[in-house]
Amino acid sequence: MQPEHLNLLYLVAAVLFIMGLKSLGHPRTAVRGNILGAVGMALAVVGTLWYQGFVHMELVAGGLIGGSIIGIVLAVRIKMTAMPQLVGLFNGFGGVASVLVAGAVLIAAVATALMGAGSAAIMSAQESVATAASGLIGAVTFLGSVIAFGKLQGFVTEKPVRYHGEQVVKILVLGGALVLSAMIVLDPSRTELYWVLVGLAAVLGVLLVMPIGGADMPIVIALLNSYSGIAAAATGFVLSNNVLIVAGSLVGASGIILTQNMCKAMNRSLANVLFGGVGAIVENKEQGDIYAGKVKSTSAEEVAMILKTASRVAFVPGYGMAVARAQTGVRLLTEAMEADDIHVEFGIHPVAGRMPGHMNVLLAEENISYDKLREMDAINPDFPSTDVVIVLGANDVVNPIARESAGSPISGMPILDVDKARTVVVIKRSLSPGFAGIANPLFAADNTLMLFGDGKKVMEELVAAYKDA
Ligand code: TAP
Repeated sequence: MQPEHLNLLYLVAAVLFIMGLKSLGHPRTAVRGNILGAVGMALAVVGTLWYQGFVHMELVAGGLIGGSIIGIVLAVRIKMTAMPQLVGLFNGFGGVASVLVAGAVLIAAVATALMGAGSAAIMSAQESVATAASGLIGAVTFLGSVIAFGKLQGFVTEKPVRYHGEQVVKILVLGGALVLSAMIVLDPSRTELYWVLVGLAAVLGVLLVMPIGGADMPIVIALLNSYSGIAAAATGFVLSNNVLIVAGSLVGASGIILTQNMCKAMNRSLANVLFGGVGAIVENKEQGDIYAGKVKSTSAEEVAMILKTASRVAFVPGYGMAVARAQTGVRLLTEAMEADDIHVEFGIHPVAGRMPGHMNVLLAEENISYDKLREMDAINPDFPSTDVVIVLGANDVVNPIARESAGSPISGMPILDVDKARTVVVIKRSLSPGFAGIANPLFAADNTLMLFGDGKKVMEELVAAYKDA
């Protein structure tokens, strides 16, 4: 195969990656997006092997088969709620792959030079800079991702691990890693320095992720996803491989866009997530004042009666629906109400739950049609004409305090305007706060009824009461 043919194939693969990413932007086209990306990757892999003359196929086949089996087993067995940590682990694999490939190229280049290339440079400046970048970023991604995985899986403490002089330690380790990188660029023959750099960068990965609380791990994982792409792009420069540069850049850019979107939807800066003692519970002095004597509790039977007289109902699901696994009850109640010609839809906040698309995935598991799922900006103008909103295990994403310009952790965060509906029914176990740790005046509003209990159990009761009403 000629180089121009290979590059043409890589161009097709790159176009497929971009089309795949675009399709991943909507649940309806997401499966097609996955397939397009996978076809692009298959073309790139086969093209590369062909161009190289299918050498060492036994090793390549071993890697492909072994990797595919591990990937399939993990993807099939993983619970939907454990998806963020699986993605985190995959990022880590990407990081370690970049470290190993760049290290192998460095070792091979040094060996070739020793075998008599004489005065020829071991590596070009482009290759040596890219090798150091692959090692540094890849190793940060690898151990950072392992810690993120551990925090979500429970074998590393979920709590932010903070200590005196933390930022100084991180800066010193980063400084050390940059000095080592410079030494490798100046003298690539010292391969041992590359592995010291990898070790130090891995420590940096641990230091960067340990101070961040478990609840913020989805943002960290999106950021590490971006790092794994940047490491892969750097490895593309080491190998002078165009498709790896393109694919790595796409992952790097999409990861950072996702990170930014998540931060924006939570009204937090990335710096606040990374350095701000995140997930800490805020002292909630005014809780008593906000709720005192104003909270009205209701029963499944009463809510069923209200629903019977409604013509437009919206569900707003949140983290509590995921924890309680209450989505089956949601589907059953939706079907029962639709049979009575009630218009039912779902208001989805971009950061409801604990991972991007969390609610969409759970509702899709129940085959609830995408047409009923409406994004925050689309559904907000319709709340004033909605008879009943059922807030199921959501808290921060419907907290009107967010409309205040300052003074709370969620000030300025865009919310679902459920308080503007005629009646709001909030299903949760108690008046406990959500992720942001603050009281919610919605629970004490005149048009709000609290239906206390575990989300799953309450939904079952509600379905039964609705059918009996
Ligand atoms: P939260 O504000 O966290 O509130 C969830 C509520 O669910 C809690 O108040 C809890 O109240 C209730 N709950 C828990 N278990 C329940 C059960 N078994 N049955 C019924 N209710 C239950 O949730 P949200 O409104 O979805 O907001 C998400 C928050 O997470 C936001 O602050 C967001 O910024 C943050 N966050 C999101 C992401 C992404 S990407 N989605 C990532 C990191 C952080 P009780 O204890 O009284 O039941």
